[in-house]
Amino acid sequence: MAENVSAQARSDRWSRESWRGFPIQQSPVYPDPAALAETEAQLATFPPLVFAGEARKLKKNLAAVAAGQSFLLQGGDCAETFAEHTADNIRDFFRVFLQMAVVMTYAAASPVVKVGRIAGQFAKPRSASTEKRGDVELPSYRGDIINDIEFTPAARTPDPRRLMDAYRQSAATLNLLRAFATGGYANLENAHRWMLGFVKDSPQSHRYQEVADRITETLAFMKAIGLDAESHPELRQTDFFTSHEALLLGYEQAMTRIDSTTGDPYATSGHMLWIGDRTRQFDHAHVEYCRGVKNPIGLKCGPSLKAEDLLRLIDILNPDNEAGRLTLICRFGSDKIVDHLPALIRAVKREGRTVVWSCDPMHGNTISAANGYKTRPFDRIMSEIRTFFAVHQAEGTYAGGVHLEMTGKNVTECLGGARMIAETDLREHYDTTCDPRLNAEQSIEVAFLVSELLKAERATLPSPQVRAAE
Ligand code: PEP
Ligand code: CO
Repeated sequence: MAENVSAQARSDRWSRESWRGFPIQQSPVYPDPAALAETEAQLATFPPLVFAGEARKLKKNLAAVAAGQSFLLQGGDCAETFAEHTADNIRDFFRVFLQMAVVMTYAAASPVVKVGRIAGQFAKPRSASTEKRGDVELPSYRGDIINDIEFTPAARTPDPRRLMDAYRQSAATLNLLRAFATGGYANLENAHRWMLGFVKDSPQSHRYQEVADRITETLAFMKAIGLDAESHPELRQTDFFTSHEALLLGYEQAMTRIDSTTGDPYATSGHMLWIGDRTRQFDHAHVEYCRGVKNPIGLKCGPSLKAEDLLRLIDILNPDNEAGRLTLICRFGSDKIVDHLPALIRAVKREGRTVVWSCDPMHGNTISAANGYKTRPFDRIMSEIRTFFAVHQAEGTYAGGVHLEMTGKNVTECLGGARMIAETDLREHYDTTCDPRLNAEQSIEVAFLVSELLKAERATLPSPQVRAAE
């Protein structure tokens, strides 16, 4: 399509399938397009996974993040897999996530908006479309919703039936998460029980134990004055939202539904969708799809994103400057963030655009270890988060959130942390099919760092009320 198509000209033409008329990156080639179309048509008749009202609630919560009144915690697997779909994995992820959120809420006295990279995070963008081993060249693995990681021609061929499997797995995962979030597991009285066995004797677990003790004391005090979990559901349940990269647009189109109360289109595959760093071309298919659905949208911002291109994307994705609609997920790398983030913040501020600024300290800090493992040094992850807060402090804006690849399992995928995982340890529990994740202990260490930075930020920045009056 022409370079100069304005946001306005596009808005007249959006439909669930209008993305099909745009150039597209990272799109798998299916050998049987008719079978794919049939699967997509069937999916379009299936029940939605999430509801428009829930997506609106998340947007409202994110509007509070944009205003500096709340903090976004977004995290989960790089890629969910069919093989790792167990109740234990979901529970372990959820309880580490709850621990992180409670640390931030308690230590920084800030509400935390909880968004998992889960129940739909299956499709992966790849830097090369094929993988070569010796003389054999096959299509790259693109996530379980598309093909299989095994290095055989059959496994690597995109298979439409995988869309169905991903939908069903997402439904089952979501069902368990909803039960955990509202059925008593997330009750603050359980803060001690969320501790996992293997982190019990670590420095992080001692710090966490202290937070949990203080929460228990606070709850006892509140109970004594008549405020208990019986009468206050917010103490015994929590709001947990889902998110994934909107990469496989045929699947997203099939899951796009018109909300009966507002008449607006919503993606019902997850509450929040994001556009990846490789698919954010303003005149391409992924941006076209995302601009039309009313969910909260994330946009990955990497080192190649220029300020003027960001403003153009903001115009397209959030033309009405609606608070909570757009989260900018910055992933520059610990050594590059200072060169890129200030210019983007200034441009957004100058244009009076309301966004949530979130820090993904994972994707700009990936390296290859000497023994070939793809890994991420924990100190670089921590360093990018610190710099993110420092830059916002200097610019007078809010560091609104973090976006993490993490698991509740005791994996050895990222180097360092309290247990000082070394290159030679990586092979012990290296389970990811895609990018290296923080393990439970490292995740909690990040939560403590964020809570300290957040507390300091809240102590030094003018309150949202003062700012609104400025
Ligand atoms: C991801 O979040 O897994 C990812 C691929 O990120 P990015 O688009 O920022 O590279
Ligand atoms: Co990743």
